[in-house]
Amino acid sequence: MRKKIIAGNWKMNMTPTEAVKLCETLKPLVKNEDVDVVFCVPAIDIIPVAEAVKGTNINVGAENLYFEDKGAYTGEVSADMLLDAGVKYVIMGHSERREYFHETDADINKKLKKALEKGLIPIVCCGESLEQREQGICFDFVRMQLKIAFQGVSAEDAKKVVIAYEPIWAIGTGKTATADQAEEVCKAIRDLLTELYGSDTAEAIRIQYGGSMNAGNCKELLAKPNIDGGLIGGASLKPDFGSIVNYNK
Ligand code: PGA
Repeated sequence: MRKKIIAGNWKMNMTPTEAVKLCETLKPLVKNEDVDVVFCVPAIDIIPVAEAVKGTNINVGAENLYFEDKGAYTGEVSADMLLDAGVKYVIMGHSERREYFHETDADINKKLKKALEKGLIPIVCCGESLEQREQGICFDFVRMQLKIAFQGVSAEDAKKVVIAYEPIWAIGTGKTATADQAEEVCKAIRDLLTELYGSDTAEAIRIQYGGSMNAGNCKELLAKPNIDGGLIGGASLKPDFGSIVNYNK
């Protein structure tokens, strides 16, 4: 059985002061032993959030990393910096980073390998645009994104990775994919992982759905056999996040 993983993606929200307050609000609401709980927070919030959630079931995640170890890369944050600050998970390849910061599949492949080498758990995002869905190339597109991301990654390492399927048209729009639409693509992702690594590995990898998941729609999505969790934007900044974490109570 794959353990469900519910991760908040705070994006560019919350000053360090606000971040600590939000942790205090959410701490009592996100206790659920059946679920891995992660707060992925802006780089500057990592240290105060790690301090605020110490001793709780909440894991700290970052929203990005750079694939080089150190050096002249102004503005970037390395895997070692994240680890030293108490980070366990790291998001990569979010559609906002692909769109606004020109992150490519090849970059994501380098970030994935670096995170695995250092012992961070990667949350690799993929997902199609509305245009691609309407053109009927959703599966091909997501398969291509993941095939490149996983190039050179061993089966043993692949098992540690979390994949987040996030249709771009559903992110921050209030338009959730139906549970059937989300399951269809998550199943296709598992089929690809079976092709690449065999079924033992494919069955071990957790696949989240992301895109306007909230307290109202989470139960139906998380009931699907290939949806092992959620990557939550808007609703992760509210007490609603507690209801999502406790979807099975
Ligand atoms: P959303 O964002 O829940 O606000 O749609 C999800 C994400 O971008 O990870």
